[in-house]
Amino acid sequence: MVRCGESGGGCFGSRMGMRLARMCHLLVLEKGGLIMILVTGGAGFIGSNFVLDWLAQSDEPVLNLDKLTYAGNLNNLATLKDDARHIFVHGDICDQAKVLELLQLHKPRAIVHFAAESHVDRSILGPGEFINTNINGTFSLLEATRAYWSALPEAEKTAFRFLHVSTDEVYGTLGPDDAPFSETTAFAPNSPYSASKAASDHLVRSYHHTYGLPTVTTNCSNNYGPYHFPEKLIPLIIANAQAGKPLPIYGDGQQVRDWLYVSDHCAAIRRVLEAGRLGETYNVGGWNEMANLEVVHTLCDMLDQQKPKAAGGSYREQITYVKDRPGHDRRYAIDARKLERELGWKPAETFQTGIAKTVQWYLTNQAWVADVQSGTYANWVATNYFNREGA
Ligand code: NAD
Ligand code: DAU
Repeated sequence: MVRCGESGGGCFGSRMGMRLARMCHLLVLEKGGLIMILVTGGAGFIGSNFVLDWLAQSDEPVLNLDKLTYAGNLNNLATLKDDARHIFVHGDICDQAKVLELLQLHKPRAIVHFAAESHVDRSILGPGEFINTNINGTFSLLEATRAYWSALPEAEKTAFRFLHVSTDEVYGTLGPDDAPFSETTAFAPNSPYSASKAASDHLVRSYHHTYGLPTVTTNCSNNYGPYHFPEKLIPLIIANAQAGKPLPIYGDGQQVRDWLYVSDHCAAIRRVLEAGRLGETYNVGGWNEMANLEVVHTLCDMLDQQKPKAAGGSYREQITYVKDRPGHDRRYAIDARKLERELGWKPAETFQTGIAKTVQWYLTNQAWVADVQSGTYANWVATNYFNREGA
């Protein structure tokens, strides 16, 4: 990994940056096109899985722009420490001038935009950062991209792609018998998080229709897998169970989510980047609807087998019902047939295979969990679960 921008996101024009740009320029000459992608938010959960999977399958370099918020973690990318194909830039997508400088210096052929504030509960307790990064940040990134892309030679302009990574939450919530969300379902976001993502989806759509920017958008269901920050349900339950802490279930635990193993999401993004139709959106899902309580029971049972409690008994005994999330969406379900029909993508993992890999990963990577739980994590847990008890 080559690392730039340590001091406040600068160094876009550094000597190191110039050397990399020259190196890429030579590759461009050899291959006859631009040969690098820019990933935003590539130190987060899905972004880091995407970068790792990308470089496991391709030699095309990745320029990784990440602000390193509480959710960004360079330890996720530790295996790329000595890999020159990964160029890390510490910076903010809201900094339009710097992003434009970065684009002009490195000349990526595509942008895969993950960077966002992503946790619904945090958006309820403090929506400001969600408006800032998800809406203003996406706008700022689109503006920098438009300026860069407009000036590209015609062939490179045509080949360029801006892939926006979004969520199924923009569609709102479903009743038990409603058909799953399709790409034509009307947007009805219910949380500040989903509203900010919906706004960013609209902005991306408008840049295609108005300026012709070659965009594609993916709307995906709940991911799980390695490097998932333990504020989200699955990693939180795995961590709390082992620590002997309560396993908090919001409300009655009958809210339904569709779960997708993260590497399947990454494969879908690669496929859409490669062959998605411009201006289109593609739903991505695992065909794996489960109530939260069922997910928690599954995790407890797996842990009972793989790491039995020293004092005996089941981890299920730690389940604690707590006050519900305000405005909690009852059910998400994704109709991913368009992606399968047009681009041949299907998830490789079932929930059973994916969750087994996930539990195994967390059991063997306790140091990663301990590291992310240090620092401000404890403050978040205290704030989020304060006043929820006794539901
Ligand atoms: P995450 O919170 O784990 O990671 C977000 C990353 O973005 C972090 O590395 C963070 O440092 C970075 N970031 C935040 N603000 C930034 C800024 N202003 N400039 C640059 N970098 C910034 O999120 P995730 O779960 O990996 O989700 C990634 C994307 O996928 C998001 O856009 C999210 O809406 C979307 N998504 C997530 C899921 C899911 O289940 N996690 C499902 C569907 C879609
Ligand atoms: O659907 C895609 C979305 O999935 C992504 O866009 C979001 O970025 C991602 O965070 C995720 O959102 P959810 O709100 O569905 O995920 P979370 O893991 O926070 O919660 C999953 C379900 O579990 C939800 O119904 C709330 C519930 N829950 C969560 C926590 C943290 C609990 O019951 N207890 C908890 O302590």
